[in-house]
Amino acid sequence: MDFEERIIAPDLTSFDSDIETSLRPKVLTDYIGQDKAKENLEVYIKAASGRGEALDHVLLYGPPGLGKTTLAGIIANEMNVNFRVTSGPAIEKQGDLAALLTNLNEGDVLFIDEIHRLNRSVEEVLYPAMEDNALDIIIGKGPSARSIRLDLPKFTLVGATTRAGQLSAPLRDRFGVILRLELYTPEQLAQIVTRSAGILGIDIDKYGALEIASRSRGTPRIANRLLKRARDFAEVQGSGIINEEIADYALQKMEIDHMGLDSIDRLLLSTMIKSYNGGPVGLETIAAAIGEEAVTIEDVYEPYLMQIGFLGRTPRGRVVTPAGYEHLGIDMPGQQKLF
Ligand code: ADE
Repeated sequence: MDFEERIIAPDLTSFDSDIETSLRPKVLTDYIGQDKAKENLEVYIKAASGRGEALDHVLLYGPPGLGKTTLAGIIANEMNVNFRVTSGPAIEKQGDLAALLTNLNEGDVLFIDEIHRLNRSVEEVLYPAMEDNALDIIIGKGPSARSIRLDLPKFTLVGATTRAGQLSAPLRDRFGVILRLELYTPEQLAQIVTRSAGILGIDIDKYGALEIASRSRGTPRIANRLLKRARDFAEVQGSGIINEEIADYALQKMEIDHMGLDSIDRLLLSTMIKSYNGGPVGLETIAAAIGEEAVTIEDVYEPYLMQIGFLGRTPRGRVVTPAGYEHLGIDMPGQQKLF
């Protein structure tokens, strides 16, 4: 096959993202897990649509990959309005946000992912928009400058962030609904994997689904990715069906252990143990030692390691717990051996 032949699939990436989109549930009843957030949201949606109003602004926060974008899309769908998507870093200037806001229709959902990364001057445009459905624009320069106020349609801002603590207080205070998403249990992830397999036409049994689910660090995005890779192994090196055995084989090949840790998780823990006696050690120090960004460690690696009790936070820094030592098969100093 020559090069020209190989590049004639220009829509390959959009095809791929169509698949991603098709895995996202469209209605609240198809959304698995996050029961607390879901139950309350259902009430708020019913109440707002019953009154014929736009839903109050919603802030979704929690670790990456838990379905914040999915939930925002469901809100728009359940409210029967348009869903407009953007992200904090994509809105560079006040004018970018003004253009987005003035193009909204009554009731629309404007989703801003990574909202903690909005710059302050853009944030200031957002305050009157959220509070008074108004856009203040300055016309002219110097002494003759005037501010005029434009009315905006009533809309719902859905903001998503991995770190609610980094949001400025004035912005956080303007959200009427604040929902925290939690890591999923293996059983919930197994349901998500089974649902995704059904949509993608992948053969999987319940043991295969549970094996993938229990090694996906509580995160649907990871579970769906591992499902697709397990299918590759099942098709090429197995019978085409993902059972427990082929799932385990595929996960081993991808260096994901029985607790779902990948090579970076293990490097993080083992570096803390070998170079810093298991801690306490500061986040920045760990980051420099393993060559990852501190924010990546905080957002991506730590939540799961803390949830399974391998890592702890103290005022003096991070520590590896006895369970973390045990998982890596390293004796903890000062820990008496019983056998
Ligand atoms: N895909 C991603 N998150 C999901 C969820 N919570 N329920 C169903 N499918 C999902």
